[in-house]
Amino acid sequence: MYKKIIIANWKMNPDAPGRAVRLAREIERGINQIKNIEVVVAPPHPFLMEVGKILRKAKLGAQNMHWANVGPYTGEVSWHQLKHCGAKYVIVGHSERRIHLGETDTLINKKIRAAVTSGLVPVLAVGEQKRTTDKKMRMILAGQIVKDLAGISRNAFGKGIIAYEPVWAIGTGKTATPKHAKIALESIKEILRKLWNTKSVSLPVLYGGSVDAKNAATFVAKSGGGMDGLLVGSAGLHPNEFVAIIKKAATAA
Ligand code: PGA
Repeated sequence: MYKKIIIANWKMNPDAPGRAVRLAREIERGINQIKNIEVVVAPPHPFLMEVGKILRKAKLGAQNMHWANVGPYTGEVSWHQLKHCGAKYVIVGHSERRIHLGETDTLINKKIRAAVTSGLVPVLAVGEQKRTTDKKMRMILAGQIVKDLAGISRNAFGKGIIAYEPVWAIGTGKTATPKHAKIALESIKEILRKLWNTKSVSLPVLYGGSVDAKNAATFVAKSGGGMDGLLVGSAGLHPNEFVAIIKKAATAA
């Protein structure tokens, strides 16, 4: 249905532009021959331009944006500026921003609205903070998604993506099981069907949280998690590992 989508979220790494460029080059070299997959690299804002110049097959993504086009918002970066840098995707609502920077669903909603109007593809990140029951997880996801997408129609969300990232799995080496990911995926689809009052919803839902080359295939395999792709953190900073993840995901059945 969709090309699987694999996104590298570099977070606040690497420390210098030369390293960012080298990383991007190695990733490009590694994915050159891989077919039928959409790869996105999301470097920190100061490296967007440099990394964008290197990327050919992979697309450029940003990790955050402000909702306004221009204005007195010290330290912020607008979607307009991101587009000038060549960004096509933008991650919105990552748990690290929700937790460490107090980003609320209201802010996230403004950003998603701005992203879809600007033509950037939003990657809305949602997920429960602690391991919990399936029922509680569904409630948490519903709470986030309904607020984050309030007033945004199915049409308006367009090519938008949802990334399911259980916070307890991020950077911990403890992944969700493929079964858990599938329950989350089905819950997200159900929440969206209700929100948009429609019988079926088709849009890419990614898994994120301690993805590596060993577990990548299980999340995207139809017989496993059935996810449409992966949001990769630390492994995205290791080109060999990241390329291996992409290869595994591309061939997972
Ligand atoms: P991780 O991060 O792969 O290092 O767990 C994932 C993310 O935060 O998107």
